[in-house]
Amino acid sequence: MSRAHVDFLLYEEKISIKDLDTDTTVLNYLRNNHELTGTKEGCASGDCGACTAVVGELKENKISYKSINTCITFLYSLHGKQLITVEHIKKSKLHPVQQSMIDSDGSQCGFCTPGIIMSMYNMYENKIKPTEENIDKFLSGNLCRCTGYLPIKNAIKNMYNYKSNKFSKSKVIRLLKSIKKTDIVIKKNDSKFFIHYNLNSLIKDYQKVSNGHLLVGGTDLALEVTKKRNDLKNIFYLGLNKDLNYIKNKNNNLHIGSATPINDILPILENIYPTFAKMFERYGSEQIRNTASLGGNIGSASPIGDSLPVLIALNSKILIQGKVKKTLLLDNYFLSYRKTKLKPNEIIKEIIIPIYKKNILKCYKISKRIDDDISSVFMAINARIEKNIIKEIKIVCGGLAETPKIAEKVQKFLLNKIFNEENINEAKKIIKKEFDPIDDMRASKNYRTKISQNLLERFLNENNKIKSTLY
Ligand SMILES: Cc1cc2nc3c(=O)[nH]c(=O)nc-3n(C[C@H](O)[C@H](O)[C@H](O)COP(=O)(O)OP(=O)(O)OC[C@H]3O[C@@H](n4cnc5c(N)ncnc54)[C@H](O)[C@@H]3O)c2cc1C
Ligand code: FES
Ligand code: FES
Repeated sequence: MSRAHVDFLLYEEKISIKDLDTDTTVLNYLRNNHELTGTKEGCASGDCGACTAVVGELKENKISYKSINTCITFLYSLHGKQLITVEHIKKSKLHPVQQSMIDSDGSQCGFCTPGIIMSMYNMYENKIKPTEENIDKFLSGNLCRCTGYLPIKNAIKNMYNYKSNKFSKSKVIRLLKSIKKTDIVIKKNDSKFFIHYNLNSLIKDYQKVSNGHLLVGGTDLALEVTKKRNDLKNIFYLGLNKDLNYIKNKNNNLHIGSATPINDILPILENIYPTFAKMFERYGSEQIRNTASLGGNIGSASPIGDSLPVLIALNSKILIQGKVKKTLLLDNYFLSYRKTKLKPNEIIKEIIIPIYKKNILKCYKISKRIDDDISSVFMAINARIEKNIIKEIKIVCGGLAETPKIAEKVQKFLLNKIFNEENINEAKKIIKKEFDPIDDMRASKNYRTKISQNLLERFLNENNKIKSTLY
């Protein structure tokens, strides 16, 4: 039996909601319904971080915190979670992250500051060491136009020197536990927002509608509302579905539930495919990685979706669930621009990634900025090289065609060849002819072609231990 309201904690206050539009964003709710205007709107598309807040979720009796972009998070997806904004962290005195920001002169106009404070708070609550690398990672989704990052970085380095204001976590845990984990349907005008806790009930309801939208992080989907001003009828939130949130290592394959957030996948991926995990460090920002999923990246079917060339290069499969279950090789899944083999009323349940122990995996992302930028060109290479002979090779490119595409002619040429400059030079000529990329504002056709050739050369250079930069 479904319930018709969503419960969450606004810091320590239990809130029940049911009357708001199903595509209300957390940002608009905070500002319009609670006058919590500390959380700012900059871009409304997940790019600037001005709207950053922190969400707490119960995991094994502890609260796990992560930063989110409230501008692209739908309010009803907060069910069973705690929302913390910049207004909540000051008690009788400022929170250490706030005091440190002031003492380090980390703010000028101040527009970015609340968002940066909440990214710092996320680091503070997760006890993240303030190394240069960690600071860059955790601030990757926060832009500041006027202060400059040096004082902000100093504020982060110094924040642990201040005494913390503790809030009562036992009270929050008790309140979070009191929120029921049962399926929910919110009805507002002619729209519905569904939350399911298991696959069967999701599939049952999803079969009944003709215009359902699957939602996980919303880092693509929410832009339909905030940027394109479209109405989304029938949103199905998958983020709380236990049958879609997991990562398992079974019989030499990784099985990843389609709604598992990228940041939850990384600890396991780091041990199996370090280059794939490293690529994810440049996937959006910390806020994006905290909520975005692999299922959403495949579901968006963008020709520049970063995980797609890598998954195809690794011969990954997807498990699709509709009226019937089926497994498809991802190679054959993308049909044309944003068109796939997924039928209406089907969902991607799981991504299955084979584990190659003897192969080299390269994940080359080329973008204008290192952090929080989408690719101009992506190349993934999965190869087995024995005694300098290419025994196995799969090369998949993003940004060179209307779908992620396998460089079949290049592969065919390189297979069983000596891995040397002469053969790579020949492969560079072949890749130039094999792809006919578009010219657009992100990159010209010539640039894309040149990059694809250079990446083949980089593959050879790296094999010969000639150092090259990552971007
Ligand atoms: C600031 C910013 C930076 C970004 N940077 C990158 C980047 O570096 N690289 C990159 O590749 N992408 C990037 N993206 C795009 C986006 O974050 C990714 O595509 C992400 O993986 C989408 O996941 P999600 O869970 O948020 O998807 P959602 O937005 O929730 O869903 C996306 C689409 O997939 C569908 N979908 C979701 N789950 C399923 C499922 N189980 N079965 C079938 N369909 C499903 C949805 O209906 C929707 O159409 C960025 C986006 C933003 C806003
Ligand atoms: S307003 Fe810019 S990321 Fe949300
Ligand atoms: S202080 Fe002005 S944008 Fe950062």
